[in-house]
Amino acid sequence: MPKQNVVDQFSRPLQDLRISIMDRCNFRCSYCMPAEIFGDDYAFMHEEELLSFDEIVTLAEQFAKLGVKKIRITGGEPLLRKNVPTLIERLVHVEGIEDIALTSNGVFLVKQAQALKEAGLARVNISLDALTESVFQTMNGRNVKPEIVLKGIDAALEAGLEVKVNMVVKRGVNDQEVQPMALYCKQKGINLRFIEFMDVGQTNGWDFSQVVSKKELLDEVAQIGEVEALEPNYFGEVASRYRYVESGEEVGFISSVTETFCGSCTRARISADGKLFTCLFAEEGYDLRELLRSGATTDMVADYLVGTWEKRTDRYSEERTEESVRNKRKIEMSYIGG
Ligand code: GTP
Ligand code: 5AD
Ligand code: SF4
Ligand code: SF4
Repeated sequence: MPKQNVVDQFSRPLQDLRISIMDRCNFRCSYCMPAEIFGDDYAFMHEEELLSFDEIVTLAEQFAKLGVKKIRITGGEPLLRKNVPTLIERLVHVEGIEDIALTSNGVFLVKQAQALKEAGLARVNISLDALTESVFQTMNGRNVKPEIVLKGIDAALEAGLEVKVNMVVKRGVNDQEVQPMALYCKQKGINLRFIEFMDVGQTNGWDFSQVVSKKELLDEVAQIGEVEALEPNYFGEVASRYRYVESGEEVGFISSVTETFCGSCTRARISADGKLFTCLFAEEGYDLRELLRSGATTDMVADYLVGTWEKRTDRYSEERTEESVRNKRKIEMSYIGG
């Protein structure tokens, strides 16, 4: 099948593919995998349920034919999967893919950053929600100290990976950490993005009162130094970016609650067990694993992806209501990878 660019019902092109390769995580962040829910008896996926690397590469090839240029590997924690560099190396060779990135909590980067870079990984986004030990431990639910993640960040930088830090802010929990984190990243020249706490999944007890808005976050950052807004790097960029006027470092805001960006949402997501989701807040996925394992040809897979994207009408963040927050059935963040 020749290369074709597909658009959905609102003319949004399919540009990015986020592939979750592991639903498990070594953290229990309260906003993502609360420990009370994701306990010892939680039914995580079995190995044979996960898409194999061959299956992932086949799907990436079909998505690339439809216009996808950017792939992000996510989890859970993707580095809990074995041999991730091998997968990266294979994805680098998929025709049409120009950018491969990974989202991680950073713990395993001390060991793996070099191999990931050598495999062709360009960028890594690392989650870090606080620098104060007790606050970070409350956020990650597993008593992990910030130093471990800071070492992971350093290892990634030393390996030559482009690094961004993601910080989810919850009011009354880690909002005191906004300025210290901004200062830390500014001083290290690391691009930091503040993320509004989102009502993903059914288990994180989301409440609007716990959301610290982009406006509030920007006001805090502006107390450190004057900032100016930057133009998006490309259509559909998730973060709105700013720059310190004097020193030039960047800081971004991901404001999916107070300033939604569904109008330019170009992202498809695949869960670790091979379901395609056309929105982070979707109820149901489309079973690509079943399609692949039933012997579909690559053209049949591509046709299926085109048909699915062409009928897409998702824009959850723009439609969010009290009713949808409480009662819409939504998949979990750790399942879909953010
Ligand atoms: P870059 O390519 O570096 O800009 O990555 P990214 O920001 O798209 O990816 P990352 O995995 O670092 O995600 C950062 C935050 O943005 C996470 O909280 C994601 O859940 C959120 N996010 C990413 N894409 C979307 C989206 O389409 N909708 C919503 N609501 N949130 C998103
Ligand atoms: N709201 C906002 N961001 C979240 N993340 C996980 N759960 C949530 C949520 N409920 C973030 C993680 C990571 C990225 C993939 O998604 O912190 O940086
Ligand atoms: Fe793990 Fe990331 Fe979810 Fe935290 S946000 S529990 S690090 S997948
Ligand atoms: Fe895209 Fe859904 Fe996020 Fe809107 S809420 S930006 S449609 S993933």
